[in-house]
Amino acid sequence: MTTLVSPSLLAADFANLRGEIDLINRSEADWLHCDVMDGSFVPNISFGFPVLEAVKRISRKPLDVHFMIVHPERYIARTARLGAMMMTVHQEACTHLDRTIHEIHEAGMKAGVALNPATPVALLEDVLAEVDMVLLMSVNPGFGGQRFIENTLAKVQRLRRLIAESGSHALIQVDGGVNGDTAPRLVRAGVDVLVSGSYVFGAERPGEVIGMLKRLGAERA
Ligand code: DX5
Ligand code: ZN
Repeated sequence: MTTLVSPSLLAADFANLRGEIDLINRSEADWLHCDVMDGSFVPNISFGFPVLEAVKRISRKPLDVHFMIVHPERYIARTARLGAMMMTVHQEACTHLDRTIHEIHEAGMKAGVALNPATPVALLEDVLAEVDMVLLMSVNPGFGGQRFIENTLAKVQRLRRLIAESGSHALIQVDGGVNGDTAPRLVRAGVDVLVSGSYVFGAERPGEVIGMLKRLGAERA
């Protein structure tokens, strides 16, 4: 099985968005990861709906939208209208996570739940059967280009066990500091979807890096 790869647009050259998205369109990437930040849930502001809508018009890859915002449930309808494939919300930002997951599904999208590095996977025990993907943050969210937090590897293994026990079909996505050193270790630990920003867009040949990340899964036993 190959790994799914979702390059993070946050690391793209925003002065040349069309060129960067064309590059992803021509690559073996599976999805396009879009990071929405509100300056409140995280200490940074990225982009919002006007940009997402423009990206959707030119992207041939399904949009994997990661909301790092408070009250993400307010934006479910608009995200669905935009045509996103996956809407990922933070557990820490949702008081009524079960309801939010159902609303995302009712709106016709796949539902992802993200956990900050300090949030234990056990908190998802009672919703795991309902979610399509769990995003483990391997850096503190807010910025690209940060150093990978090693504890994520043990967390991936704990989440793998929890998913098996609950009969869930959830994919495991890891986001932050994914590069040539950390990606093979993550895939061996059981990750299904790799998000990578600076490692992909900072490369001389991003397409080759994406291909390399995809083929890591083939080595998995
Ligand atoms: C961080 C974002 C990530 C970011 C990853 O808060 O959620 O998606 O773009 O960037 P890299 O791969 O550079 O760590
Ligand atoms: Zn992200």
